[in-house]
Amino acid sequence: MPPSAMHTVVCDMLGIRHPILQGAMQGGGSVDLVSAVSNAGGLGILPTFGGTEEKLRADIAEVGQRTDKPFAVNILPMGRGFTETRARICIELDVPIVTTGRADPGEDAVHMLKDAGITVLSVVPTVGHAVRMVEEGVDAIIASGCEAGGHVGTVSTLPLVPQVADAVDVPVLAAGGIGDARGVLAAFALGAVGVQIGTLFMASSESGLNAWGVEQLVHMSEIDTVVTKAMTGAPVRCIATPELVAYEAARRDGADKTVLSDLRKKARAGRHPERDEDRRQTAAGQVAGLIHEVRPVADIIEALVAESAAMAVTFRKQAG
Ligand SMILES: Cc1cc2nc3c(=O)[nH]c(=O)nc-3n(C[C@H](O)[C@H](O)[C@H](O)COP(=O)(O)O)c2cc1C
Repeated sequence: MPPSAMHTVVCDMLGIRHPILQGAMQGGGSVDLVSAVSNAGGLGILPTFGGTEEKLRADIAEVGQRTDKPFAVNILPMGRGFTETRARICIELDVPIVTTGRADPGEDAVHMLKDAGITVLSVVPTVGHAVRMVEEGVDAIIASGCEAGGHVGTVSTLPLVPQVADAVDVPVLAAGGIGDARGVLAAFALGAVGVQIGTLFMASSESGLNAWGVEQLVHMSEIDTVVTKAMTGAPVRCIATPELVAYEAARRDGADKTVLSDLRKKARAGRHPERDEDRRQTAAGQVAGLIHEVRPVADIIEALVAESAAMAVTFRKQAG
């Protein structure tokens, strides 16, 4: 197979064809999605957040059966015990790549993974966090802007990526708000050598997201997300349901604990009040406004690569 038109150092580092990572996604990043992305030449990443150790073992085994290409596991540091058990499972089951997200997993965890020969990439929301992770020994940084779905900081992708790229001497990938080839090229223009995409893959045929969530994704606009603490206690960008918006308004107004707890339960309720419909709330990024259809993963990746390459040629011609 010829090298990707988008080949970068990230492809060599991770053993993948295209420098396109599918960000780990609790609630939608199932084995179907992860294996489809890896089989299409990107990097599929399994989530661990919210899942048991047994599930992680079963998921790793199943992805390993469905693809002979590299895939990764994401560890959200949810306390030392959680981080270490997940890291040990990755080592034991020969997972080649681990990503970390939301917070610093700690130097010990990074060393444990690196000593086992695992490539480690860290998702970061600030320059300071990026520098710390590089000091701890990670191989690459994924700079994630606050327009992303999932846990977010406060700096958006446009200013974050070049500042991180200037501050560290390892490859930098961009995440947050990338929904088509224009976003990919923008990321490269900012100094990234690869991209991590979440929301767009949530709206793929292989996504494990419930039908309600997929329907929301293809119809919502760029203003239909909300950053809320109702899901994990930390800021998470989600689909702005009336229940989540009500929770956030009450929180801002200083509502008391009982009121907030009640609103939080309603916002996280997984079923439609009248119909028997799974309405489990999902994280989603502002780029959802750009997504209007559900497509197979292979088509999404092929289009991202072909359109980015064509656009790069146009830019070169414009530049003379
Ligand atoms: C539904 C959903 C769940 C997510 N869960 C996780 C997770 O478990 N761990 C993690 O590091 N990032 C998680 N993220 C963030 C993604 O991995 C990715 O970095 C982000 O979606 C990129 O921004 P985008 O949504 O604008 O493409 C999640 C994102 C979404 C949309």
